[in-house]
Amino acid sequence: MYSDLQLTEDRPVYIQVKDYMKRLMLKGGLQAKQKLPSTRELSTLMKVSRSTVLLAYAELEDEGLIYAVKGKGNYVSASIETPNATATASWQLDWTTEMSEYAIQAEQYDLMKHGSGAERGEISFTSIAPDEKLFDLHNVKRAFLDRMSLEGEVLLNYGYAQGYRPLMNYLLRYMENKGVDLRGKDILITNGFTEGFDLVLGALRKKSGKALCENPTHHTAIKNLKLHQFNLTGVNMEPDGLDLKQLEHELEASPYDLAYLVPSYHNPTGIVTSPAKRVEIIRLMNKYQVPIIEDGFNEELRYSGSHVSPLIASMGKGNGLVYLGSFSKVLFPGLRVGWIIADAALIDYLESMKRARSIHTSTLDQSLLYQYLSNGNFEKYLKRARTEYKRKYELVVRCLKQHLPMCRISGAGGLHLFVQFPSEYRTRELLAACKVKGVTFTPGDTFYLEPGQGVNTMRLGFSRVSDENIRKGIRIIGETAAQMR
Ligand SMILES: Cc1ncc(COP(=O)(O)O)c(C=O)c1O
Repeated sequence: MYSDLQLTEDRPVYIQVKDYMKRLMLKGGLQAKQKLPSTRELSTLMKVSRSTVLLAYAELEDEGLIYAVKGKGNYVSASIETPNATATASWQLDWTTEMSEYAIQAEQYDLMKHGSGAERGEISFTSIAPDEKLFDLHNVKRAFLDRMSLEGEVLLNYGYAQGYRPLMNYLLRYMENKGVDLRGKDILITNGFTEGFDLVLGALRKKSGKALCENPTHHTAIKNLKLHQFNLTGVNMEPDGLDLKQLEHELEASPYDLAYLVPSYHNPTGIVTSPAKRVEIIRLMNKYQVPIIEDGFNEELRYSGSHVSPLIASMGKGNGLVYLGSFSKVLFPGLRVGWIIADAALIDYLESMKRARSIHTSTLDQSLLYQYLSNGNFEKYLKRARTEYKRKYELVVRCLKQHLPMCRISGAGGLHLFVQFPSEYRTRELLAACKVKGVTFTPGDTFYLEPGQGVNTMRLGFSRVSDENIRKGIRIIGETAAQMR
């Protein structure tokens, strides 16, 4: 006893001594009223200084765990309660049988657990997260200190469910600059796109229980739509966006509660819906009265071609579209800050749902982001990031053309490209063969609604892969694919 104390470097030593003694008392190693070793004895046994033990004993006394008797020493409190774990140790639930349908499905659809993740040391094209080497940490730190010195106390207390007002105002202006008519609309800050989507799906009354989406589409969106019990109809993608004939056919055939669309730098295809198709999509949704949930996650990552506005910018005063924004690709996904712009009446309900679920998004994160943005860093960062991603994007395209000349490539921006092999290829087989050689990517069928679809496709995320590994990885994929023919 005592000499087995193992010190770590992450906490003050006296706290570790206190915790050690407390554990002994609560586990029955030290009994009520038992005399404790003197501070000198304990410091020798534990190989710590005597003042450390004195501090630890003072803390224990403060917590009512020990008491001192003048001239005699320290004793374990008479009223110490040792939890009687033996009585309950036999109570073993099988939690796997207690799970709701929601929990079971969430686990089944969890790509982090069941997807084709990357091992250490592999050349991995699976991530579409930003490259952290581009983060301008010094500006983030400055923004944090600036904001904390202005109103640190306020930021550490509870905030508002709708969001941190200065950030909300910033984002409203930001959306207005994208051409959005804000009349009758309002904003809610969320924990990224994903929470916003979950909130909106949870808010909508199911009439048909059916939802439309692009096929393929963002896996997290498919997962959440299914978790909310929507039956999904996928509309095929053409090089300039949705297949409008199919879209109209589906809309005619049955009623839909919503359509989830990613019109700019779609995940996984990278396709940007053409302006003509955007107009037609809004016309059709209006005709069939299907609310659109627009995912604007990648809008800023444009490398070529003309400016694209979000669908919401074409809505005027119309309120049939719910826009979900996120800074996860263009800035820092770790901050988990996104936003919803929608009809004020809908936002009012979403605000209450947000309060019920999580009270609010971290005010610290929101205010840090606000200060970073209003310090004028965003534009500079974006310029740098865009230049770097564009350079990498062009490198990937060149490598793909060289090593996979039989493939069709799509993707006009963002942090990934989508590759379609001739129909006889199976990219899961290609992945297995590449993995042996230390290269991974995401098989494209992950993003399709039905089994058997997209089996000859793959998504290549390039943002976090070095130039050297881009060249090497795509060469290996190309050579491996050539051997599979
Ligand atoms: C289509 C799409 N929307 C949104 C996001 C961002 O989600 P979040 O803001 O929750 O990080 C991603 C991230 O990969 C995405 O692919």
